[in-house]
Amino acid sequence: MSRMEQDQYINDRYQSIEDRLKVVRRRLNRPLTYSEKVVYGHLDDPEGQDIQRGVSYLNLRPDRVAMQDATAQMAVLQFIASGLPQTAVPSTIHCDHLIEGTTAPQADRNNAFGGKADLDLANKVNAEVYDFLSSAGSKYGIGFWKPGSGIIHQIVLENYAFPGGMMIGTDSHTPNAGGLGMCAIGVGGADAVDVMAGMPWELKAPKVIGVKLTGKLSAWASPKDVICKVAGILTVKGGTGAIVEYFGPGLDNISCTGMGTICNMGAEIGATTSMFPFNKRMYDYLVATNREPAAKLAEAFGENLRADEGAEYDQVIEINLSELEPQVNGPFTPDLANPLSKLAENARREGWPLTVSAGLIGSCTNSSYEDMQRAASVAKQALAAGIKAKVPFAISPGSEQIRATIERDGLIEIFEKVGGTVLANACGPCIGQWKRTEVEKGVPNSIVTSFNRNFAARNDANPATHAFVTSPEMVTAFAIAGDLSFNPEKDTLIGSDGSEIMLKPPTGDELPARGFDPGEETYQAPAGSTVDVKVSPDSQRLQLLTPFKAWDGKDLEDALVLIKAKGKCTTDHISMAGPWLKYRGHLDNISNNMLIGAVNAENGKVNSVKNQLTGEYGGVPDVARAYKAAGQPWVVIGDENYGEGSSREHAALEPRHLGARAVIVKSFARIHETNLKKQGMLPLTFANPADYDKVGPFDRISVKGLTSFAPGKPLTLVGKRPDGSTYEVPVNHTFNANQINWFKHGSALNAMSA
Ligand code: F3S
Repeated sequence: MSRMEQDQYINDRYQSIEDRLKVVRRRLNRPLTYSEKVVYGHLDDPEGQDIQRGVSYLNLRPDRVAMQDATAQMAVLQFIASGLPQTAVPSTIHCDHLIEGTTAPQADRNNAFGGKADLDLANKVNAEVYDFLSSAGSKYGIGFWKPGSGIIHQIVLENYAFPGGMMIGTDSHTPNAGGLGMCAIGVGGADAVDVMAGMPWELKAPKVIGVKLTGKLSAWASPKDVICKVAGILTVKGGTGAIVEYFGPGLDNISCTGMGTICNMGAEIGATTSMFPFNKRMYDYLVATNREPAAKLAEAFGENLRADEGAEYDQVIEINLSELEPQVNGPFTPDLANPLSKLAENARREGWPLTVSAGLIGSCTNSSYEDMQRAASVAKQALAAGIKAKVPFAISPGSEQIRATIERDGLIEIFEKVGGTVLANACGPCIGQWKRTEVEKGVPNSIVTSFNRNFAARNDANPATHAFVTSPEMVTAFAIAGDLSFNPEKDTLIGSDGSEIMLKPPTGDELPARGFDPGEETYQAPAGSTVDVKVSPDSQRLQLLTPFKAWDGKDLEDALVLIKAKGKCTTDHISMAGPWLKYRGHLDNISNNMLIGAVNAENGKVNSVKNQLTGEYGGVPDVARAYKAAGQPWVVIGDENYGEGSSREHAALEPRHLGARAVIVKSFARIHETNLKKQGMLPLTFANPADYDKVGPFDRISVKGLTSFAPGKPLTLVGKRPDGSTYEVPVNHTFNANQINWFKHGSALNAMSA
């Protein structure tokens, strides 16, 4: 499967896909799309599984797990708490999110090894996190990619992705691996833990949106423009619940890494993932990245790596690549597609700042060899005319292999000559890790990037920064012109001798003629069970987890209502992001943000609830801690769609850690409801939503019926008011037999390791 994993074979996976598809074909008796083949080829129970696109929940067996360093911390801590000795599927950790990129000139800057100054600093600042991830990875069989190795999705494409495979990753741009035909889906840490622990992973059977590509890209148009165009058509929500599957004769005119770019940004339209069927361009990329045997296997398995004749899509979009012009999407949303010919006009009309203040290329989205060559071909023309980038221009190589190869082939020299700064092989400015000093916060300005996301304040924490996403070659042209209204297809630049020059369309090789240079070794293979996992007991950022207590075998009696939340209560209200993110690996510290965004129905305030043991008001986490210390169980009462937003597992871990037993609401966002079950809590819904009004903020709550807890059988909430009067209301649950077992053991992981 990879040169790093000598004991894992793609043949086994292909055999397993084939066996499962035989069953599914017999049952469905209809042509299948490519993505259906891959998804159904990973079913846990192909015979018994209900399969209806957009309706059934599928239990799947992914081939592997990838985690980035920010999300890996809690996932790995939970895995450790399970007591299991090794991960059940091949898994990797990638140190990419915690490295800051500096674009301001620095006297001591040394770019010899991808933003060395930034990398050195990150190694110091994040030492304890890196030490923990590296030691835990080594002990539990998880491959560890050190800081400086590169960005998770580029490393996966170079080393692990294979056509027909299935992977989950704790990052929203995991679908990048669809460029190599993999079904790669971004998930939360809790899902990663399940798969690493050997549990099946649940996904609602995706619908399939087909994108038919015809024609051939030309001039300034690139693969990035395909997805920018698709985003403009489908909008940020258009892909929800669906896999975007590309097909048609135009496919063969796009490089494998270009297909990766297209799949990467499928996350911007909310798609479950995006996928390309296996073709010659993927074959070539596998060979170029030392995986010829995998390429041959995929070729032999080709029948299962493309859509069947007559396969039906839920929706079809058609794009003629020959007619596609460069797109510049933004500002503030990736689905605001501006065709290059309309950009200047749109910018003037909307009042977007025309002066470009920075250009940034690379990232997980666009740092292939081809991307870098095309960008360098533009920079070279500027240099020949004696001109340089007018504004800070930064390059984030996607991997050490890309960095070393473009250095060997002279591209870094070109970028630096034109005024560029090569940052560390990491996310850097793409995730807001950007030390930017030349623009004050609050000052409106425009930046152009080859990244994927451009929400307000994402890159530099300045909500007045207008970020536009486009191809690396277009970014390079904008950085040289310094002007958002510049159209390289018709406008000229003034050379150092005063002459007018017209940039020629970019050119670039798909793959390096001299092969890839692997650069510095940045991978650490697991060493085994004897390794000590490094977590200091004094750490403020990391804390080992202790397994939650098992159910005591009794009904829940006399719990207090910690908070009766009113209105919207998303995972952000339950566990805020922002400054709290640094505590992601420390459950006790991050629990100080528990429910601090929720509105208390009793007084209309946030983070102010009455401690019913003392009568005094305090912050929600503080009161919860007081109840916990007193051995007093508590519950949360909530409104509609409680826990919507994200799959953030902290929103379930924190209440459990601080002593919650049940969360009783009008309705749940499904993922959060499942996360609560995984942590051993009782997510319950009022059978009659109006009963929410019956529960007073100072009532004592009992939940009856737990001793005969069974799937489909409602429980009873008994409320006791402060005046001693009582009421009874039915409450529903969606636990199946397996999930009831989680509850009884105290958590899904406890049940796994029991
Ligand atoms: Fe990193 Fe940005 Fe990609 S945060 S993973 S480079 S989207």
